Amino acid sequence: MTPAATVTDVGADVETPVAFRIGGRIPIRNRVFAAPMCGASKLPYRRLARRHGADIAYTEMVKAYPLVRDDRKTKELLVTAQDEAPCGPQICGGDPDTMGRAAAVLEGMGFPLVDINMGCPVKRVVNEGAGAALLKDPAKIEAVVRACVQATTVPVTVKLRSGWSHQGHADAVTLVRAAEQGGAALVCIHGRVRTQHHQGAVDFDAIARAKQAVSIPIVANGGIESAEDALVMVRETGCDAVMIGRGAYGRPWLFRDVARALTGRPALPPPGWEGICDIMEEHLEGMVALLGPVGVRLYRKYAAWYFRDLPWGAHFRDRAYRASEPDVMRGLLLEWRVHARACEAAARAGERPPVPGFLVGDPRAADPFPARPGQDEDDTCE
Ligand SMILES: Cc1cc2nc3c(=O)[nH]c(=O)nc-3n(C[C@H](O)[C@H](O)[C@H](O)COP(=O)(O)O)c2cc1C
Repeated sequence: MTPAATVTDVGADVETPVAFRIGGRIPIRNRVFAAPMCGASKLPYRRLARRHGADIAYTEMVKAYPLVRDDRKTKELLVTAQDEAPCGPQICGGDPDTMGRAAAVLEGMGFPLVDINMGCPVKRVVNEGAGAALLKDPAKIEAVVRACVQATTVPVTVKLRSGWSHQGHADAVTLVRAAEQGGAALVCIHGRVRTQHHQGAVDFDAIARAKQAVSIPIVANGGIESAEDALVMVRETGCDAVMIGRGAYGRPWLFRDVARALTGRPALPPPGWEGICDIMEEHLEGMVALLGPVGVRLYRKYAAWYFRDLPWGAHFRDRAYRASEPDVMRGLLLEWRVHARACEAAARAGERPPVPGFLVGDPRAADPFPARPGQDEDDTCE
């Protein structure tokens, strides 16, 4: 079992004081949350996020209706463990009654809070009146939150966007007020409107105005890729904490860096490749323990993210996408460790990085950083 989050993993000398509590209960110290990410926020990833300093890590969204019908696959997405607590489960739906019942199921499963998705931009979700569709209907936001609050005793939080579009729809102030009115204990605002999906500028002003308009904690999300970005987000919006999604892909230590910056502690150097390889192996073993061989296939994209920063990483990535068996992926990670060590040694000696063994004599070795066709980013969920 992976050890629970400790202050040592964040590199802290002293335990950080509590900044605020969600719903008066769940203590938030580092002011950094790990975003719900469909297909990515599995238990092993959440454990890494927590151990590196995320105060809380969210599950990917699950639909409310199958959850209340006790659907096995939906429940599998919610597998959690004591050593990642507190874990935030996220539900998605537009019918207040079903959402309330789903929230009660989550409380019954032992989760310490319930988060509601009001940002998913995907058409088939929106067409069901769920996810970002709620951004067009503040009264519905209030009703859905209230139904969840009334059905549970745990804090109910909301993740929404700064609006549906830049024109003619409710703004972030109206949306967070509706959530607060319904009884939300905290709102996370992704500072992009639905029409932007996951690209484009993040609207700091909208988040700042929303923060001023309510008394519950506001978490700001969107585009944070470094500790500096997090500091800018806090400075520009006055938010109580930040949430990180894609910036931590293949870099869970970003939570540590952000946690330290937001709590006024000095930065630590990035982990060396030896430490990163340990994280990669732990992540793979977690996926295999959770899902068996299927975990290997789902691990491929994480591998690709870890591989991206060294020369010829893309070639390792291509091999990862062909690996289906745990031992094949384990062997690849061992080769990667050897390659990473060699690259580090070459950098120290001021030499060119060595071509990994499997590419010696291969014309593809000429390009250490080939273009990446079909980026692993999908837009299927929010
Ligand atoms: C592939 C992918 C899956 C996502 N899945 C979810 C989800 O299940 N629930 C949710 O609230 N947001 C989801 N999001 C949105 C993220 O939580 C986050 O709001 C968004 O990526 C912006 O943050 P970032 O710029 O730090 O990545 C997803 C985003 C991406 C790119």
